[in-house]
Amino acid sequence: MNDPILLAASLLSSDLARLDWSMKRVASAVDYIHCDVMDGHFVDNLTFGAPVIKYLKRHSPLPLDVHLMIEEPGRWVGSYLGDWLAKGDYLTFHIEAEPDPVESLRSIRKKGVGAGISIKPNTPADQIKSLKHEVDQVLVMSVEPGFGGQPFIEEVLPKITEIRSAFPPNVIVAVDGGIAPDTIGKAAKAGARLIIAGKAIYGEPRPRKAANQLRAIAEQAITAE
Ligand code: DX5
Ligand code: ZN
Repeated sequence: MNDPILLAASLLSSDLARLDWSMKRVASAVDYIHCDVMDGHFVDNLTFGAPVIKYLKRHSPLPLDVHLMIEEPGRWVGSYLGDWLAKGDYLTFHIEAEPDPVESLRSIRKKGVGAGISIKPNTPADQIKSLKHEVDQVLVMSVEPGFGGQPFIEEVLPKITEIRSAFPPNVIVAVDGGIAPDTIGKAAKAGARLIIAGKAIYGEPRPRKAANQLRAIAEQAITAE
């Protein structure tokens, strides 16, 4: 449980007309740039897709953590891999969108990219436990996927702990949604080590400072254990 806290800034809450600037302005304070791909079907919202990810990768000073909230992810993962996502990046999709995900997870790993599976707040951990040797990341949603700025669902905390103990130590457990100064410590204590924040970083007047403060709170929560 002593793995360091990794922080990802979710571009969803940034100025979407200035993505390059949005990435660079937080780069010294976070570890990943989190990119929410939404198709308007799996979730009600619509953001950007593979052509934008390609150029985000080209300009990002940090590795990308790409979170696909799309239907039929198996059909599309290839177009997100291309020749740009690389070792150090993650590509994650939802178990609810692809009940038979092994082939897609393997195709991600074959490219050297970290393969991730994500689960919505009401999906039990049991639905993904058989994937423990197929993934590099489990992304636990702590809000219903689709929109930034929603309140953290505390009921997911035991699921974070359950997943942490069910998966091998090299699989990182990520948490996404509602992360703020009053929730990040709980998520970290439950076992999350990749912590994604949108509004709590980009919604603040000084995003870099906000990210540094979030990290300090999370680190203090796990060292106080
Ligand atoms: C929601 C997205 C999140 C979102 C989190 O569906 O997957 O990444 O940006 O936003 P906050 O941190 O504002 O809850
Ligand atoms: Zn996300």
